[in-house]
Amino acid sequence: MYYFFFALVFVLLPPISTTHDEDVVLENIEALGPGLKPKEIVMPARYFFVYARGRNYTGDSSLEENDFQVQIKGRSLQNKDCRVWVNILNRKDSSLIVRYKLFETCLDLTISVLYKNSHINGSPFKTKGPVQPEDCPCAELDLDTWLKNYECPTEYNQIMSDLKSFSSVDFNSFYTRAINRFNNSHSSSVCHFVVKDNEVYRTCYGQHVGFKMFIDAILLSLTRKVRLPNFEFFSNLGDWPLIPINDKPRIPLFSWCGSSQSADIVLPTYDITESTLECMGRVSLDMLSVQGNIDKTWHEKPPQAFWRGRDSSRERLKLIEIARKHPEIINASLTNFFFFRDEEKIYGPKEKHISFFKFFDYKYQLNLDGTVAAYRFPYLLVGDALVFKQESEYYEHFYKELRPWKHYIPFKTDLSDLVEKIKWAINNDDKAQEIAKAGQLYARNNLLPQHIFCYHAVLFKV
Ligand SMILES: *[C@@H]1O[C@H](CO)[C@@H](O)[C@H](O)[C@H]1NC(C)=O
Ligand SMILES: *[C@@H]1O[C@H](CO)[C@@H](O)[C@H](O)[C@H]1NC(C)=O
Ligand SMILES: *[C@@H]1O[C@H](CO)[C@@H](O)[C@H](O)[C@H]1NC(C)=O
Repeated sequence: MYYFFFALVFVLLPPISTTHDEDVVLENIEALGPGLKPKEIVMPARYFFVYARGRNYTGDSSLEENDFQVQIKGRSLQNKDCRVWVNILNRKDSSLIVRYKLFETCLDLTISVLYKNSHINGSPFKTKGPVQPEDCPCAELDLDTWLKNYECPTEYNQIMSDLKSFSSVDFNSFYTRAINRFNNSHSSSVCHFVVKDNEVYRTCYGQHVGFKMFIDAILLSLTRKVRLPNFEFFSNLGDWPLIPINDKPRIPLFSWCGSSQSADIVLPTYDITESTLECMGRVSLDMLSVQGNIDKTWHEKPPQAFWRGRDSSRERLKLIEIARKHPEIINASLTNFFFFRDEEKIYGPKEKHISFFKFFDYKYQLNLDGTVAAYRFPYLLVGDALVFKQESEYYEHFYKELRPWKHYIPFKTDLSDLVEKIKWAINNDDKAQEIAKAGQLYARNNLLPQHIFCYHAVLFKV
């Protein structure tokens, strides 16, 4: 599914569309993004954007095939061509994502972007000196310089609100309380992490501690790149938040999911963090790939809601019922039974999994909680579709920045107004597309790998 090429090979776009591109003017083509600062911004997969009609273009025109060529070259420490994998994703909105992975240190990295054989503005982009791959031990920078290089925000509302009750944390006092609460607990699994002299130590408590690997991975990735301050924390490895809102004095505990009934400090979910770290690696669904694997433009998609998932909440079963009553507007099926196995004869049979990219053959996407918040929400937002989101007490690290009716359409927890909301979208297509675009823009500006690194680093700084 990806295009593998090494240093010297030009990467060509696959034929996509037959729209005319007479209005694409070489001088207006812009390339922007963290992948053009490869020395300062080290990521597993670096990426930048090429805007064929300028970065502010909002029309629907796609790009003419094969007009763009990208070449990424450099010298290895052995003075050979360094090993680079380049992958181009067509967003079909007149922009491309170019992402590339370095497999070794590259000297004098040169990125050339050509349109009809001519260099675009700024191309070739040249970097002097060594450019490091993700697995380098290159942590020479202090955190403040690193945050500036990565263009991270100085603060996040969610972090400020999560931390405001911990203005001065006396670690000794909560360490003992946390151990008393979590050691030998049958219902929770937590790890105690210590970062000292930029090395990571941990001890875990509980029966199911496999998910520690996700926290390990982000901490190790960060400590390879930047000198973190000494700090320690407890991290919850389960889905449910664990700290009651009236817990006094509160134990500061990091969790992947927050809720209005709890006081856990939220981290980006293991799902989006893993797809950040394993972009162009072990995972094929990430915040970049989902933007470049969508087949249909808005107007080519049927005005139907699409949903697949497992039976992890009663409302998901209810959705199947509603979809059966309204097959012309909702295509929903369960792909697995685990929580309500004895109801498989009613709500089944289960359907085969389909590629997440194919979800976006449909105009509308449904985001329903599972056991907690559904961690697919970032991917749904960044894809080219309108997201309907169930109202819920659960949230991920970014939900507070989103507004219903601006970035997504809300529906009631019990799904009683879902059909009505979908019908509204069918009858208000322009407005629906505008909300879809706003959600997508938010995700593009806040939920890509660069932003996930930033959120962790800012959180670990305070
Ligand atoms: C794009 O829009 C932004 C914000 O509206 C503006 O600041 C910027 O100058 C525009 N860029 C171009 C190239 O038109
Ligand atoms: C946790 O419980 C185990 C078994 O009861 C005990 O051996 C261990 O010392 C406890 N750990 C801490 C840090 O208190
Ligand atoms: C539901 O979606 C699947 C996958 O796109 C498709 O194969 C199937 O025909 C759809 N069902 C209906 C009733 O439209």
